[in-house]
Amino acid sequence: MIEKYWSSGGSQVIPDELRTIPTAQFDEQRFMFHRLIERFQIATFIELGTFKGGLAYEMILTHPEMKVHSFDHDVAQLHPLVRGIPEIYIRDVFHKDTVAFVSSIINASDGPVLLFCDNGNKVKEFYLYYPLLRVGDFIQVHDYPVEATPELVKDVSEHYLDLEPIDLNYYLANYTVCWKKVALGA
Ligand SMILES: C[S@@+](CC[C@H](N)C(=O)[O-])C[C@H]1O[C@@H](n2cnc3c(N)ncnc32)[C@H](O)[C@@H]1O
Repeated sequence: MIEKYWSSGGSQVIPDELRTIPTAQFDEQRFMFHRLIERFQIATFIELGTFKGGLAYEMILTHPEMKVHSFDHDVAQLHPLVRGIPEIYIRDVFHKDTVAFVSSIINASDGPVLLFCDNGNKVKEFYLYYPLLRVGDFIQVHDYPVEATPELVKDVSEHYLDLEPIDLNYYLANYTVCWKKVALGA
C-alpha cells in the first residue's frame, strides 16, 4: 500500500513507483483526484479513456477501498502491467452496450461515483454519460478549454441546474472541470 501523498498529512510528492506507467495527468491534476476522492468518499472511479493505464493503476494502488473501472478501445496502448486487469476493459465508450454497462456499474455503487471523461470526444461523452449519474455522483471532463470547452461549461451553468461545479476556477486553471449532481430544490 502506497503511503498517502496528497492529503495535508502526506508528503505532497508523487512516489517513483507511481511513475512506472505514464499518465496524461500532470501532478497537480493527480492530487486533485486524490483530494476529491477523500473529501467525498468516492466509492467508484470510472475512467473513460485509459491510455497506457497510469491513472487507473495509480487509483488501484492508492485507494484499495475504491472500485476502479477504466475503458479504452485501443488495447495496443496499454502498459503490460495493466493488461489483463479485469476492470480495464477494451471497449468503445460510444457503443450503446458500453453505456449500458457503465450504467450498471454506477447503479451498483454503494457510494458516490466519480466518472472521468477523458477520451477522444469529451463533450460528446459528457452528454452521453451525464444522464446516468445519480444524486451525489460526480462527472469530470478533461482538457479545458480545448476539449472541455467554454461552451460546455456555459451550457451546464445555464441549463443543467442539477450539476454543481466543484472549485470551478481552481479546476479550470488546471485544465479540467468537475460537477456534482445534486437534488433540484434541495
Ligand atoms: C487522453 S487519453 C486518456 C488519458 C488517461 N485518462 C490518463 O489519464 O492517462 C485518451 C484515450 O481515449 C481513447 N479513446 C478515444 N476514443 C475512444 C473511444 N471511442 N472509446 C474508447 N476509448 C477511446 C484513446 O485510445 C486514448 O487512449
